[in-house]
Amino acid sequence: MNNIISVTIKDIGLFVNTDELTTFMESAKTSLIALREGRGRGNEFTGWLRLPDKTVSETEGIRKCAARLRSQAPVTVVVGIGGSYLGAKALTEALRDPFGKQEHTLVFAGHTLSEDYHAALLRFLDSTLYNIVVISKSGTTTEPAIAFRILRDHLHNKVGERGMKSHIVAITDARRGALHSLAVSEGYETFVIPDDVGGRYSVLTPVGMLPLALAGYDIDAFAEGMRDMALSVREGNDTASNIAIAYAAARNTLYQNGYTTEILISYEPALVFLAEWWKQLYGESEGKESKGIFPSSVSFTTDLHSMGQYIQQGERKLFETVIHVEEPHHRLVVPGASDDSDGIGFIAGKTLSEVNHKAEAGTRIAHTEGGVPVITVSLQRIDEYNLGQLMYFFELACAVSGYVLGVNPFDQPGVESYKKNMFALLGKPGFEAERERLEGELKAQG
Ligand code: PA5
Repeated sequence: MNNIISVTIKDIGLFVNTDELTTFMESAKTSLIALREGRGRGNEFTGWLRLPDKTVSETEGIRKCAARLRSQAPVTVVVGIGGSYLGAKALTEALRDPFGKQEHTLVFAGHTLSEDYHAALLRFLDSTLYNIVVISKSGTTTEPAIAFRILRDHLHNKVGERGMKSHIVAITDARRGALHSLAVSEGYETFVIPDDVGGRYSVLTPVGMLPLALAGYDIDAFAEGMRDMALSVREGNDTASNIAIAYAAARNTLYQNGYTTEILISYEPALVFLAEWWKQLYGESEGKESKGIFPSSVSFTTDLHSMGQYIQQGERKLFETVIHVEEPHHRLVVPGASDDSDGIGFIAGKTLSEVNHKAEAGTRIAHTEGGVPVITVSLQRIDEYNLGQLMYFFELACAVSGYVLGVNPFDQPGVESYKKNMFALLGKPGFEAERERLEGELKAQG
């Protein structure tokens, strides 16, 4: 087995009582066992736990489909929102060369209702041939449904009725939902999101894997990372070595002590969307029943020049989870300069990573001294294998953490409220009374 991600929680010792942490460790251990044995809340959605042992059989079909789509168009639009969007976005943003020409261009739609965004997307698509991969487990989510309608019309004008079938792939439920019915009637190639895997835990299904393969990344290495993490946390059921238990226990202990906001921090801009994926995972899983840590994120050192001030001296209810990346892929040395007018001659000859790591170490000490507890998650480098490990670790720790908190980490009942109101205000049949009430409220608000 390769290097396994590690988690350091010792730095929170200054802020919480050791006995309390031990109690939460025990609770996290019990929660992990309940999760594995299918005895916790929402246990019908724990299929993702076993995905690392199953994925191999599916990768061949994903690879073939990706090769076919890549051979017939230079661009694919991936349509989806929430768990049907963020995993693929996080992975492809983490792995891509920010300035290089992509082998196959992935663009995203259906994650916003912005007219301008979609108009700009259509302008871009006007001049290129493309495929659509539409992802929705329920098959009824409004944002991707709207985007898919618009894109279908646009694509039809380009490839005609006969071309549609080969240019569209659907990833959805095996039996139910509008997207499933449409895919069957139109004969689109389809992939299944298993019944027992919820959206935000679905990155190791075709939801994450097909876009990853399309963008030209190594899906086997990603699956192997997930598998190695699953094995590692399976072996380490005891509190000391199981990083999922350690992380879940540490954050719940901090929450109990008034640290209600967690900031995920990375010093690599490639991980900005990984943080978006993490926020959805933890926010949707834990924020319910008037409880839950508020997940937020910053990108350092960039945001040390914006949010750094608040974190250092603002209200003391924050804690940090820092993703430490050990090795860069490239080596770049700060050059010497004869005049040293910028005063950084003492850094000349050091690599940027040495400087970045010192910034990280210095910030950790400053923030700890400023009253902000820090948890550290360390990985070797940013690649498919390590991202597989990291994502499985965060998923497992999230489920355990939700159980420790006493909520169902697999539902999202609160998401329905905005939809109900939006449908009523848009005049959906059956919502007439609600529409009247909401319009009255809007009038009263001026
Ligand atoms: O995690 C979740 O379950 C949600 O964020 C869903 O992924 C999101 O609402 C999209 O749902 P669907 O895939 O049904 O379109």
